[in-house]
Amino acid sequence: MLRVTDVRKVFGTAHDTYIALDNVSLDIADGEFLCLLGPSGCGKSTLLNILAGFEPPTSGSVTADGAPVTGAGRDRVMCFQDAGSALFPWLTVEENVRFGLRVRKIPKAGWDSIIDKYLRMVDLDRHRRKFPAQLSGGMRQRLQIARMLAVEPQVLLMDEPFAALDALTRRHMHAVLLEIWQRTGKTIVFVTHDIAEAISLADRIGMMSVGPRSVITKMIDVDMPRPRDLTNPRVAQLFNEIEALLAPDLARAE
Ligand SMILES: Nc1ncnc2c1ncn2[C@@H]1O[C@H](COP(=O)(O)OP(=O)(O)O)[C@@H](O)[C@H]1O
Ligand SMILES: [Mg+2]
Repeated sequence: MLRVTDVRKVFGTAHDTYIALDNVSLDIADGEFLCLLGPSGCGKSTLLNILAGFEPPTSGSVTADGAPVTGAGRDRVMCFQDAGSALFPWLTVEENVRFGLRVRKIPKAGWDSIIDKYLRMVDLDRHRRKFPAQLSGGMRQRLQIARMLAVEPQVLLMDEPFAALDALTRRHMHAVLLEIWQRTGKTIVFVTHDIAEAISLADRIGMMSVGPRSVITKMIDVDMPRPRDLTNPRVAQLFNEIEALLAPDLARAE
């Protein structure tokens, strides 16, 4: 389980500070699919980077299974929006996955079978000798997911991973990710500013307010079976509820 307790994040110098996060507390259960939803600039990436151990909080704490998170760990991996810059353009599909295994010091004997398994899981095994530039946006994002899964982390941290994809590809990626999540039982923390995306994916949605001093204003349970039918009246109801929560914040931000 991931536990965030009273996390504050202040950027800047003594004379020019920006309080990005103010006392954020949050429990994320093992195997949960949590979406963090909020407008651009509210501190979603900041919170995710703190969960990843890429950045320390200014105060407060983060623990994973009771142990303090003090740096990046093999149990938590990050997937970025821009697969193009996260992947190595000079390495093939399979070499990109292999690179991740080498960095994480996974024993060499297992590499081939691990690479096979995860490239098959994201349906890229037929493209293993291609370079990232020869792949579509959705395929590049599937490669990033395979590279992430290959080190067999417990927690996937995903920062707007599908925001740059066209709507149809995004829908497809939702189905791919949900299938992997159901099959592997990973914990997923997924950042988005897209209300429909959060409703499609999440068990719970953590609503974040605009900064400065952003907090989690509300946790919303998405009590619907998957795959979710977006024409279901319950979806429209949730959508309206979330939009109403965001509206005053957006007006204030402007
Ligand atoms: N390294 C940094 N130095 C100064 N300010 C930062 C830094 N990183 C983020 N911020 C500020 O913190 C706020 C939250 O940023 P971010 O977490 O990237 O928001 P989001 O991911 O929700 O769009 C923004 O106002 C941003 O300008
Ligand atoms: Mg961000």
